[in-house]
Amino acid sequence: MLDWSSFQRVDAPGVPSIESLPHTAFTTSGRAAIYQALLQLDLPAGSTVLVPTYHCPTMVAPVLLAHLEVAYFGLLPNGLPDLANIPAEQAKRSQAMLVSHYFGLAKSLADVRNWCDAHGIALIEDCAHCYFGEAGERTVGAWGDFSTASLSKFLPVPEAGLLASTLHPIKPMALAKPSLKSQIKGWVDVIELATRYQRLAGIRPVLASLFKLKNSRSPQAQALTEVPAPAREANMMRDCDMNRISQTPLWASMALKSMLPRGRIIARRQRNFNRYAPYFANTPGARPLFADLPATAERAAPYVFPLWVDKPEAVYQALRQMELPVFRWDRIWPGTPTIAGDVGLQWSHHVLQLLCHQDLDDADIDRTAQAILQLLRNSSD
Ligand SMILES: Cc1ncc(COP(=O)(O)O)c(C=O)c1O
Repeated sequence: MLDWSSFQRVDAPGVPSIESLPHTAFTTSGRAAIYQALLQLDLPAGSTVLVPTYHCPTMVAPVLLAHLEVAYFGLLPNGLPDLANIPAEQAKRSQAMLVSHYFGLAKSLADVRNWCDAHGIALIEDCAHCYFGEAGERTVGAWGDFSTASLSKFLPVPEAGLLASTLHPIKPMALAKPSLKSQIKGWVDVIELATRYQRLAGIRPVLASLFKLKNSRSPQAQALTEVPAPAREANMMRDCDMNRISQTPLWASMALKSMLPRGRIIARRQRNFNRYAPYFANTPGARPLFADLPATAERAAPYVFPLWVDKPEAVYQALRQMELPVFRWDRIWPGTPTIAGDVGLQWSHHVLQLLCHQDLDDADIDRTAQAILQLLRNSSD
């Protein structure tokens, strides 16, 4: 959310950003960037794209929308693709591979890059969780033929994504311009959201009165329910809301992206991540997903703290009801296979993603961590 603090300049360790890659073009979202990356590759209709079993639906929808086939690969316990278990026949049939850096904790994709090169497969590096960071020997995004990112996960913008590449100049994307009304709405939405969540002190009372007046004239928005539709392909595609994938991003997003400093985003995410870690160092029923978490986080701006929970069901439902900033990728695309040795499907069930967003403060992190510990104690009784 936009606040005065968004403009604050904070010294942060020199963590690089995907934005600094030689070729970049902005889109309306991370999913739009994946779609555009696939168009850049200019694959024949029906070509196969390899996608991880651990995914959010917005990673699969763009592939189908580009009239391509999806095939799945499994993951190793470190979150990298289990290359050795991709059948040779499958590799031969595939033209592209989507590999995500999960949780904002990017890793070297040297082996993946070599494997793709050896098999003539284009690599799309999905950096939706890591707008900033190093992926081993390279900056995030520098391994892929094309790389994609999601600005709205890191900056207070209505929606925006990034398509980037070190290897290939980006061909013109033929994007349509949103209407003037949408452009103005983009700005209004940013400011209204900030006002609703008590940001922008000083001018908030004036803004609040204006928005009250505005909303008294428009029909009441329906209350959002949290019950997701069953995981059928049509529902999943509809929920992914792919409507604006062929538009240019809004002026509001581009202006804020250019204006806002980044140091605070990186420093506060690292701080939040490190604050979660001690809570779960020695917890019956749960553990940090990766043993080397704090070291990885130093060269990153973590998106979430990934926590493995042995019996997640009751804990997760209770956390959602308490509206705490915790997610789980449990809506996997219909037809995602079970693959021997793959951790992906287990992660969809057991891994809770604890948000590290820069606008969360110490009290938010403590409240979330303590709630999880309490729920774990309750579930072991
Ligand atoms: C790993 C990953 N890739 C891609 C996306 C799509 O990003 P966006 O929401 O900006 O479309 C997401 C969204 O959650 C994501 O988590």
